[in-house]
Amino acid sequence: MQNKINVLVVGDVVGRPGRNALKKNLFDLKKSLDLDFIIVNIENASGGFGPSPSTMEELLTLPINVFTTGGHIWDKKEFVSSFDLYPMVLRPANYPEGNAGKGFILQEVKGVRVVVLQLQGRVFMEPLDCPFQKFLSLKKEFPPNSLKIIDFHGEATSEKNAFANFVDGEVNLVFGTHTHIPTRDERVLKKGTVFITDIGMTGNYNSVIGFDKDIIVSRFLKQTPVKFEVAKGSVQFNAVAINVDELNGKTLKIERIYRILNV
Ligand SMILES: [Fe+2]
Ligand SMILES: [Fe+2]
Repeated sequence: MQNKINVLVVGDVVGRPGRNALKKNLFDLKKSLDLDFIIVNIENASGGFGPSPSTMEELLTLPINVFTTGGHIWDKKEFVSSFDLYPMVLRPANYPEGNAGKGFILQEVKGVRVVVLQLQGRVFMEPLDCPFQKFLSLKKEFPPNSLKIIDFHGEATSEKNAFANFVDGEVNLVFGTHTHIPTRDERVLKKGTVFITDIGMTGNYNSVIGFDKDIIVSRFLKQTPVKFEVAKGSVQFNAVAINVDELNGKTLKIERIYRILNV
């Protein structure tokens, strides 16, 4: 058991405050948790709407192996047109054929192959291809004895829970993103897959999903379009860390990390 792989996953990073919280935390966590592999969801990293080439420049200075995203990946046209420059950035694999980018990646750490796959749910979301069927078609490409991690980006807790049980025993970790609200329900499923319904965001503490709360309230009150602005002030940092035994691919432990920071 001398060679454990320690993985950290950070939930949706919202705007500059979220990026600052990442900068403040990642190097320190990498050291204290002896991290080998770091995954961060950046669908809201640039002003709340997608990554941009300039935010990518900033994020690439951090010790992050793979970036996952979601529906907001398409918000910044200048990013989408240069998607190929960022092979470590994923978008949901179940978007129809013909879109830029890719939905899974294979990397290696400590001699162990690591698969990271991103899928997006369809309940209260875009009518994408079926994420369940997409998993079945893609899993043939996953190498045996690899560490497998899935970001399931979805709105409905039921869909995320159903998916995690669907892949139970086949992957090490399924983590949910998108709602920005931490469900704090991390658990080990019957056949060994570790699952959390939603990690929660890394964004403003006193906000609605990282945005200025007064603007969002006004949107609900008036039912007319408003320009969302990322909220300023203290930040909540939401992440999970897992330890995996590389010899048998078993997930040994999941730990939730929650910090409030002034950035
Ligand atoms: Fe998000
Ligand atoms: Fe999303």
